[in-house]
Amino acid sequence: MNFSLNEFLISVSNTLDAIETDLFGVPTNHSKRIAYIATRIAHKLMLKPEEIFDLAALSLMHDNGATMKILDDKINYTVKQKIAVSESRKEHCLIGEANLKHFPFLTNPEDIIKYHHEDYNGGGFFGLSGDDIPLFAQIIHISDNLDLKFDLNHTSKELLVNYIVANRNGKFSIFLSDIVLDLMDEKEFWEDLKDENIKRALEHQIPLFANALSFKNIRQITHTLSRIIDAKSILQEGTQQDYLVVCLKWQDTIILIRRQNIKF
Ligand SMILES: [Fe+2]
Ligand SMILES: [Fe+2]
Repeated sequence: MNFSLNEFLISVSNTLDAIETDLFGVPTNHSKRIAYIATRIAHKLMLKPEEIFDLAALSLMHDNGATMKILDDKINYTVKQKIAVSESRKEHCLIGEANLKHFPFLTNPEDIIKYHHEDYNGGGFFGLSGDDIPLFAQIIHISDNLDLKFDLNHTSKELLVNYIVANRNGKFSIFLSDIVLDLMDEKEFWEDLKDENIKRALEHQIPLFANALSFKNIRQITHTLSRIIDAKSILQEGTQQDYLVVCLKWQDTIILIRRQNIKF
């Protein structure tokens, strides 16, 4: 079966968006912005298309292991604060890495989600530093950090540039900091990050791929998605909202359907 990996990735992203909208009341576009910044960095580094595809997939799912249970008593927090709290535990790195074990990546990336909160100078959940941190994890970290610290829809360029300069050769490597500073010089970069543009801008950055997948592969993928959705849906216990992921073959594309109010 010819399986469009891009359509699949967009379906995964849409499914996560739907859950996020239920949890936060609005789609935050957090993961899309991380994926956009990360793939822009990857293009600057002239990574292979397969690597850029995998980096986009990893970025879109970088917080798949963040349980929402810890948000139960944070109802007065802003959306930004809730995202920061949901990312504040080491476990979300370990659970997220394990959840993606059977995802159909093209380049076998390892330990990227596990180390996506490591600072270049050794701060972070696992104390890794320098180039012991996988490059993809470093790229996701710098992208994630910008969206966690600032409202990228409205924050002034000057504030962000100052932040990167202050953390250059600290939280982030000099190498990646300078690439991000280059990106910030582009008007298009700021336009693309806006909520109304981010989806289209991101799709533009992801190379096209289709793969032949066996039924076994597809079963593994649906299992992966179920694990992610189960973890994300913990907050919804008692609110009668469950998710059913159904894979259908339609014009050589697998599509995912979300339904609400389903009893198993
Ligand atoms: Fe995270
Ligand atoms: Fe994040």
